Amino acid sequence: MIDLRSDTATKPSPGMRSAMAAAEVGDEQLREDPTVNELQRRAAELLGQESALFLPTATMANQIALKVLTQPGGQLLAEERTHILIFEAGGPAVHSGLVMHGLPGVAGRILPQQVRAAASAADELQPASIVVLENTHRSAGGRVWPMDEFSEVVATARELGLAVHLDGARLFNAAVAAGRPASEYGRLADSVTVCFSKGLGCPLGAILATSQERIEQAWRGKFLFGGALRQAGMVAAAMLYALENNVARLAEDHARAARLARGLAERGLPVDPDTVETNFIGLDVEPLGISVREAQELIEREGVLVGGLRPGVVRIATYLGVTDDDVDTAVEAIPRALTHLIGNGRHGAAAPSVGSAAVPRDR
Ligand SMILES: Cc1ncc(COP(=O)(O)O)c(C=O)c1O
Repeated sequence: MIDLRSDTATKPSPGMRSAMAAAEVGDEQLREDPTVNELQRRAAELLGQESALFLPTATMANQIALKVLTQPGGQLLAEERTHILIFEAGGPAVHSGLVMHGLPGVAGRILPQQVRAAASAADELQPASIVVLENTHRSAGGRVWPMDEFSEVVATARELGLAVHLDGARLFNAAVAAGRPASEYGRLADSVTVCFSKGLGCPLGAILATSQERIEQAWRGKFLFGGALRQAGMVAAAMLYALENNVARLAEDHARAARLARGLAERGLPVDPDTVETNFIGLDVEPLGISVREAQELIEREGVLVGGLRPGVVRIATYLGVTDDDVDTAVEAIPRALTHLIGNGRHGAAAPSVGSAAVPRDR
């Protein structure tokens, strides 16, 4: 079975496992783990921020950032399918008392005028407080923010006195695709999250980077959320290994995704290769008249696992461990499962049974 559900399926490589086994460790809660300390120093530098904090997950990093940057009752503005809004169990409301305000976007991106309009419509009972930008944008299909658009939204947020958090769970994918250092995006935001358990290939681990002062506040969040660990250097060693060995190679994942997308489109499937900028392909199953779940079952019968991107759209992900041979196999297997449905779309008939409820929990 070829698993193309999500880039979270990566497994630590032999080289990474050796680095983990050899890690020098100490008590992370006492800030005495030398490998964690080195990771934090290196990550801050790479992300264009003063300081960084090691955390077990990107969700925890996002939630701590929101807690540090906002006051209860404020509004969080973000594109409506941003991970923080729809996949983090209501965390912004539960942990930080934020009102979540989703804005319709294109390719996961929102415009300065949308931020301006939302901020001016807010009242003092629930003032606009923070803008969250996601790069790459997961539910849009791993789309990359062009730097000029990103900096214009950030500038507008600044002008309005709003904080900016960058959910860069896949920021290194964005940076590699854009041909820019991650710090160019990172330094513009007040805080940045990066996840290491996706394309970077670690078993777990995330970073929150921000100012020195906010990192001290974030330490409190690390304890509050239960993310203060002990000999975490075992994991930090994997993350340092990933920074050395697994960043530039993300370009290979992107090239494989582009090749797979072209192959599927050439075989008549509803895939737009022009939207494949990183390691995700969106396969639109509505024109085939089936749900995401039904498409997954049909494709699985041909030996390939695929995931859910958003309602009506299947996600096909490439990542460390997916080979050229896997792509060659998938480019034949997926059409074999679906091409008999081309032209089957239930246009004008009852809506197909798609929807987030039909999509399994895969990030
Ligand atoms: C954009 C984005 N942000 C945050 C997360 C959360 O990552 P974690 O599973 O490490 O909490 C994910 C997970 O897929 C994601 O896609």
